[in-house]
Amino acid sequence: MPSTVALIVAAGRGERAGSDLPKQYADIAGKPLLSWTLGAFHDHPAIDGVRVVIDPAWRDQYDRAVDGLDLGPPIDGGATRQASVAAGLEALTDHAPGNVLIHDAARPFVSANLIQRVVDALATDRAVLPGLAVPDTLKRCETGIVVATEPRDGLWAAQTPQGFHFDAILEAHRQATGQALTDDAAVAEAAGMTVRMIEGAVDNTKITTPDDLERARSSLGRREIRTGMGFDVHAFTDGAHVTLCGIDVPHTHGLAGNSDADVGLHVLIDAIFGALGTGDLGTHFPPNDTTWHGRPSSDLLAVAVAMMKERDARLINADITLICERPRLARHQPVMRERVASLLDAPLSRINVKVTSTDGLGFAGRGEGIAGSAVVTMDLPAP
Ligand code: CTP
Ligand code: MG
Repeated sequence: MPSTVALIVAAGRGERAGSDLPKQYADIAGKPLLSWTLGAFHDHPAIDGVRVVIDPAWRDQYDRAVDGLDLGPPIDGGATRQASVAAGLEALTDHAPGNVLIHDAARPFVSANLIQRVVDALATDRAVLPGLAVPDTLKRCETGIVVATEPRDGLWAAQTPQGFHFDAILEAHRQATGQALTDDAAVAEAAGMTVRMIEGAVDNTKITTPDDLERARSSLGRREIRTGMGFDVHAFTDGAHVTLCGIDVPHTHGLAGNSDADVGLHVLIDAIFGALGTGDLGTHFPPNDTTWHGRPSSDLLAVAVAMMKERDARLINADITLICERPRLARHQPVMRERVASLLDAPLSRINVKVTSTDGLGFAGRGEGIAGSAVVTMDLPAP
């Protein structure tokens, strides 16, 4: 398999997007537009390397956008897109790849599937571009007046990434120096190469105007609300207190379990894992893993809270119910609630702790143990 490098052109000024900061560095849901675009290529199994062509005047912004990504050094672009691509190709000649995919930084919606289809097509074609057949009737206008209706048969709107055998497109760009060609397929055509059109993707649009930036913010920054629930029971054993929601409550018995058997925090943790869609207590803290034995359940909760933070999940509310006949818990409710709020680093208003009995029925009624359940709601980035 020939190696494939993605060359991302990001040296434009973004004048039509109308802000001082070039659009590729605009904040989209917490990270620069360029980071969204790079993510699609950086993590793609068919892409061996990613290089970015930039305007060095914006080097600080570039460094922020690629923080944490493993890329080669940026390449200085030129006054036009064509000049920027040419500079990028020349910079790749030292370690020339077999294929190059040339892509606009301003197309952040590019999908893994489209990248794969362009790479696949390069097995049989030297030049490949994705596009969409033009669906609208086409009018030619002069000063706002229609002068002709143009046939749209055979007309396609070009997208990127456009894929090429590296040597062929490098040579084509060298021949095209000084011309004003707006995409690399046009450069290939000018050199007489056969250019294969494949089906593009409807949402692979280019960010051009302020409205486009707003649309990118609402679609890439999409979040969703998710709910998880937890249920758990611990049996009484010898002891002088039970630990519930991080609080020690004096009692004639203790609760049995590997950790402090805090049924209140266990159901809360399971509810968090439920909302995150990531298994349960047993998955993350296997009972035979002695690391967690004897540790307070607040340590386990800290792990779950860290996972929420990592996923950029924000707690909406947590509601815990404890079920037992004895000990009487009502007077401990406010302090349990405060403790849970502080462990979750959440305002008190988002936390609730309820206590109930079972009217003497069942294992709780017979005083054999304590049950708990919890529901957690959070808001997090949509997958
Ligand atoms: N581009 C580039 N070098 C240039 C001009 C453009 O690398 N001299 C890049 C842009 O950064 C963008 C892509 O080519 O990712 C497509 O160009 P376009 O959408 O026209 O972006 P800009 O030229 O930045 O925007 P505008 O034309 O509105 O100024
Ligand atoms: Mg431009």
